Amino acid sequence: MNIVLIGFMGSGKSSIGRVLAKQKGMYFIDTDSLIESFEGQKIRDIFANHGEGYFRELEKKTFNWLSSCVDNAVISTGGGMPTVIDSFEKLGKTVYLKVDFETLLERLKAEEFDKRPLFADVEFAKKIFEIREPIYTQKSELIVDANMEFESVLKEVSSKA
Ligand code: S3P
Repeated sequence: MNIVLIGFMGSGKSSIGRVLAKQKGMYFIDTDSLIESFEGQKIRDIFANHGEGYFRELEKKTFNWLSSCVDNAVISTGGGMPTVIDSFEKLGKTVYLKVDFETLLERLKAEEFDKRPLFADVEFAKKIFEIREPIYTQKSELIVDANMEFESVLKEVSSKA
């Protein structure tokens, strides 16, 4: 069984996921990194060269591939993946790292915005945030308050997942 972390950009999916995996003796997979290595391009270049629709297709393909052959892994997903995947059930136990928009703004400094094409415009990012909130809630088995400091979030996820 896998643990799947979902949530908005900057919610801590990758940083929490990496440490969680180590603690639990599981593998760690980050879907963005996987897509970057499949494609040989950074996420921002995939968006710039091929558009968002192409990237979402890659996310679906990655999800199907992971579901067919990965076990015993903590999987950190791109923030938009739950918008194109109906259910994460067949992949594993899904945990939503829930943060407030204000927390995200504090965490994601300007240089981080550059790595995340959808965060280039903060107003736009806030809109997506509001649209996605119910999607993350609906597609998760467990919701963890990820506004807390790293160690507290990690402890919470680790004890419940
Ligand atoms: C996206 C989130 C990013 C990355 C891409 C699109 C999104 O992942 O997949 O820039 O639509 O929210 P992170 O959530 O890991 O930043």
